[in-house]
Amino acid sequence: MASMNWISKSTSSFTFVSAALCLLLVLHFSTTCEATLSSKFYDKTCPNALSTIRSSIRSAISRERRMAASLIRLHFHDCFVKGCDASILLDDSSTFTTEKNALPNRNSARGYELIEDAKAKVEKICPGVVSCADVLAVAAREASLAVSGPSWTVKLGRRDSTRAYPDVANTDLPGFTESLDRLISRFGGKGLSARDMVALSGAHTIGQAQCFTFRNRIYSNTSDINASFARSRRSRCPAAVTQGSSNLAPLELVTPNSFDNSYFKNLIQKKGLLQSDQVLFSGGSTDSIVSEYSKNSARFRDDFAAAMVRMGDIEPLTGSSGQIRRICSAVN
Ligand code: HEM
Ligand SMILES: *[C@@H]1O[C@H](CO)[C@@H](O)[C@H](O)[C@H]1NC(C)=O
Ligand SMILES: *[C@@H]1O[C@H](CO)[C@@H](O)[C@H](O)[C@H]1NC(C)=O
Repeated sequence: MASMNWISKSTSSFTFVSAALCLLLVLHFSTTCEATLSSKFYDKTCPNALSTIRSSIRSAISRERRMAASLIRLHFHDCFVKGCDASILLDDSSTFTTEKNALPNRNSARGYELIEDAKAKVEKICPGVVSCADVLAVAAREASLAVSGPSWTVKLGRRDSTRAYPDVANTDLPGFTESLDRLISRFGGKGLSARDMVALSGAHTIGQAQCFTFRNRIYSNTSDINASFARSRRSRCPAAVTQGSSNLAPLELVTPNSFDNSYFKNLIQKKGLLQSDQVLFSGGSTDSIVSEYSKNSARFRDDFAAAMVRMGDIEPLTGSSGQIRRICSAVN
């Protein structure tokens, strides 16, 4: 009895000391004490997690190449809404509504079922260990690799949210007509620099956009768009807002299925599809970065990889926050 007592006392004083230490650390370094992410997080608990995700995502992208783009975007839309916590993957429940119908995502974000499939395969080998947020982060890296984009070491150990944040999805995700200043401050709000923002926008070297996202731009009469480029986009995107609004066009026309720096070369020729693309090269502070990436593809690839790691670091849930969902579309 006495020894029991001693153990529980010593445990609680240990807890107290570590909590105090933690508080000190927070005060002193303004970091959080709960573990930071680590690429080795599953090395002991699920050593085959990454290879399982890889083969699942690879075969899905070989069936439909655009999925590479969709998965990279899905990770972005997860991370910008309360951190990379898989909140975007949740369906409606009795206590919250899904982010899937928020304006930036509705009829637009895709690839959910690929993440659910990869997660199911990981659950089979290591039940309850690997978070949906980590599956999505790894999937985004595999997606880049699959279209000859850069690779990076994915940090792991994110946990999954227990709710969705549709209002935050509506307010925190960037819009396709926003100004450069607005975009810079949005990314700044997530701890990302203007340079990160330009590099990450280079993801628009792959994937598709719907007519309604670039209609105004291709029918506008400004010197900010190459006239023959604008004309060439009009046949599949009629001026009447009631027609063809969901027709797709490649975000980057030259090599729409391969990850390269053509996106930046296009911007210099005023051939950005979205207004939010062209503002990156429109006489403002990021022109020099666009020029640099247009000439130096290696620099773009390195910066993109580094920026994806930083994006993946946005406000993760760690330690005992959140949960490891069994399926990605619902909380446990
Ligand atoms: C800078 C602000 C950004 C804006 C305003 C923006 C906006 C958009 C829009 C409007 C679309 C087309 C959606 C549709 O028509 O359904 C799109 C597609 C896409 N975005 Fe962005 N985006 C931005 C940044 C990013 C970032 C940071 C990434 C990833 C790192 C990204 C990756 C993609 C990809 C890959 C697609 C194609 C998706 C597909 O084909 O399924 N975007 N984006
Ligand atoms: C575009 O603007 C120029 C100069 O302002 C004008 O001459 C031209 O007719 C306009 N084109 C269209 C299609 O509105
Ligand atoms: C617009 O693009 C076309 C076709 O690539 C090119 O021939 C033309 O010089 C460009 N116009 C301007 C003003 O840059």
